[in-house]
Amino acid sequence: MSLLIKNGKIYQNGTLTSKNIFVKDSKITKVTSQELKSNEVIDAKNKIIIPGLIDGHVHFREPGMTHKEDFLTGSMAAAAGGITTILDMPNTNPPTTNMQRLEEKRKLAKKSIVNYGFHFGSTNDNIAEIEKVTNVASVKVYMDYTTGDLKLDDYNALKKIFSSNKTITVHGENENILKALELIRHGRSHVHFCHVSSKEELHYAKGKKIKNPVSVEVCPHHLFLTAKDLNELGNFGEMKPGLKTKDDQKALWEGIHNGKVDTIATDHAPHTKEEKMQMNYPFGVPGCETMLPLLLNSLNQKKITLKKIIQLCCENPAKIFKIKNKGFIKEGFDADLAIVDLSLEREINNDELFTKCKWSPFDGWKLKGWPVATIVNGNVTFSNGKINNVAAKEVLYNERKSS
Ligand code: NCD
Ligand code: ZN
Ligand code: ZN
Ligand code: ZN
Repeated sequence: MSLLIKNGKIYQNGTLTSKNIFVKDSKITKVTSQELKSNEVIDAKNKIIIPGLIDGHVHFREPGMTHKEDFLTGSMAAAAGGITTILDMPNTNPPTTNMQRLEEKRKLAKKSIVNYGFHFGSTNDNIAEIEKVTNVASVKVYMDYTTGDLKLDDYNALKKIFSSNKTITVHGENENILKALELIRHGRSHVHFCHVSSKEELHYAKGKKIKNPVSVEVCPHHLFLTAKDLNELGNFGEMKPGLKTKDDQKALWEGIHNGKVDTIATDHAPHTKEEKMQMNYPFGVPGCETMLPLLLNSLNQKKITLKKIIQLCCENPAKIFKIKNKGFIKEGFDADLAIVDLSLEREINNDELFTKCKWSPFDGWKLKGWPVATIVNGNVTFSNGKINNVAAKEVLYNERKSS
């Protein structure tokens, strides 16, 4: 099977150039000005081809909460949003906190149409499992209460986890970021802060250099909404950490421009409309289908550059989680690509979403700049609004430098 994507502008080595991309057996084999023969041809005239997005933070809800989402519907949403790889969080039911449950989740994920990887959960007493587990993106530590029941409170357990040699991904709000930094300093690992939401949190995470690598993730809902939007959104605008002030939002955008923010991920956290309308509503909003259109619209408004979008959504997540052969348009890399049309104007509409929950806090937003096709392992998985159901693969990771 071969595929030629011709006449498009591709973003490579920091510039946009007109090149053809030739794909064979799920890999990018040539990026060239020549026109090579191929079984299948896509004409990408007037379009831009970027590396498929890597969403380092999603909740696809399997096992146990498939009324909210599953690996098929979640991955359809991802493909429609130009995302070709997702990393799934462990707060499922049961949570992914031992090897057997990880193997079960691996089986469930086989129906995903975008590539996938897993964050492994931590508990007060699963350090032995953490030391054993292989081929995961990170070990997730919940330092605050959120969906699921994984909050860690045993200080000795935290100490052990933070001194393991795995990348540690943290849900830590406010001062818990400082606590995590203090814990990581005693080990050699990389600490990754999920969904940093305020000026203060960003300052805590990146205000003082430590010898360990520290990375910061922000989410579209914190970049495009503030607490003011709660008047209109009600519970549909409630997530952890919650929406903040205009000033906080500005600090996150500044962080994007000055390099303090390393990546943007969706924290795609679907719950049903019925659940969100209850008094005791769960926290979280979906985001896979809307992240790239929101960012492309911002590109059209000159609020962000294409280079930044690609760094934060493609290259850096591959680097942070050491994902093999992804995040770049390079010969020999996996053929995971998004084709975008910067002049396409469309409205986000709840009824047209692929996520099982069928709602978005951005319903009704009119955006300019949309993904029009998504290619996963060389297969055209999404094109002009339609999904093509081809199963994808689990990602592999590059060796960590041994310590
Ligand atoms: C997430 C969920 O629903 O799983 N909710 C949220 O509000 N972000 C959990 C989390 O990421 O903290
Ligand atoms: Zn969280
Ligand atoms: Zn100390
Ligand atoms: Zn989350």
